[in-house]
Amino acid sequence: MEALLDYIAQCPTAFHTAGHSAALLEAAGYTRLAETEEWQLTPGGKYYVMRNGSSVIAFRLPEGRVARLMMAAAHTDSPSFKLNEDPQFAGVGVERLSVEKYGGSIYATWLDRPLSIAGRVLVRTEGGVETRLVDLRQPCAVIPNVAIHMNRQMNEKNALNPAVDLVPVYGLEGCGSLKARIAAAVGAEEKDILGDDLFLYNPQRGVEWNGLVSAPRLDDLQCAYAALRSLLEAEPAEGTAAVCCLFDNEEVGSQTKQGAAAPFLRSVAERIAAWSGERDLTAWLASSFMASCDNAHAQHPNHPELADSRHAPRMGGGVVIKHNAAQHYTTDGVSDAIFRLICEKAGVAVQHYNNRADMAGGSTLGNIANTQVALNTVDVGCAQLAMHSAWETAAASDTQAMVKALTALYETALVSDGKGGYSV
Ligand code: CO
Repeated sequence: MEALLDYIAQCPTAFHTAGHSAALLEAAGYTRLAETEEWQLTPGGKYYVMRNGSSVIAFRLPEGRVARLMMAAAHTDSPSFKLNEDPQFAGVGVERLSVEKYGGSIYATWLDRPLSIAGRVLVRTEGGVETRLVDLRQPCAVIPNVAIHMNRQMNEKNALNPAVDLVPVYGLEGCGSLKARIAAAVGAEEKDILGDDLFLYNPQRGVEWNGLVSAPRLDDLQCAYAALRSLLEAEPAEGTAAVCCLFDNEEVGSQTKQGAAAPFLRSVAERIAAWSGERDLTAWLASSFMASCDNAHAQHPNHPELADSRHAPRMGGGVVIKHNAAQHYTTDGVSDAIFRLICEKAGVAVQHYNNRADMAGGSTLGNIANTQVALNTVDVGCAQLAMHSAWETAAASDTQAMVKALTALYETALVSDGKGGYSV
């Protein structure tokens, strides 16, 4: 469990998730490829590609010809607040920061807790610019509540307006310049910082307690960690190209150059096809499979009525398979059956989630990735409480269940008979 908590601590933003994942891949013998160059691939080779410094696709080739792609995908980003251009301003005795919300946070959970700032900055060089990551790590902002004496209704109703109520305090007036601090942290002159993507984040380290794990960003770093760990631990089946995709921008709809809606995965898959001597991907896709991994809602103990009582996962109950008739989750009869068989063989318990029939529920990246590379896909996750809170809770044991399931997925030699039958 400490390994997951370490991973989360190293990954305050999507840039850090991608960067730290790349470092773990490098340590395991994976070689970085550039999208801008020709790829020299070798049988049995292990590679990864980054896009925008915030999405990563890692893959391991088989010794022989490629017969299928077995993939796990998760997302690198979490709901947060993004700092605006020249964010610092003073007033009412304090310095404040201008921010915009990123994704759908539970606002109240971000109040009255120490927040830090991390992201990337673009620093002027002699010939242009370069990217540097920054993580201040120390608490350096707080979004203060108003006192209950000034809002007697706050325990009954407390709407929070992001433009008014969620403006963070950076310090006492005159406490210094954030930009100077960022510049010093990356070893640059303030005037040489030409661009940035900086976010507030919760720097509190996760904890394991009474069978549960509470931490920031469990959605979706619990799954990102599990997908990466599985790729590193698996011994993929003969003919399998094992692929792990970590996409940015799921929390804002994935429609970016590095998101699941971009042709990033398709271009990687097409290059693997070309290397393997295939004319296109079609020959593989029938026998290929993706697990789109994003955390699921556990039934809430105080509000069990918010779940469909017969399709309500529990923390610690194993991997959740997510279903939705409107296909916001990609799971269908075929992908459900294949994934269940994989889990059955691996001895991993599965449980099933549907939204309550009168609730819209969320969405994730599986159906969006399918618009680029269409293949049998199951939506899965670990059951958790308080999704999109600054402090989320899940079961410690479900991380291991997910690692076991995804490892088994990479080790499965899936073959389609072309008539709706599969050997698993
Ligand atoms: Co998510």
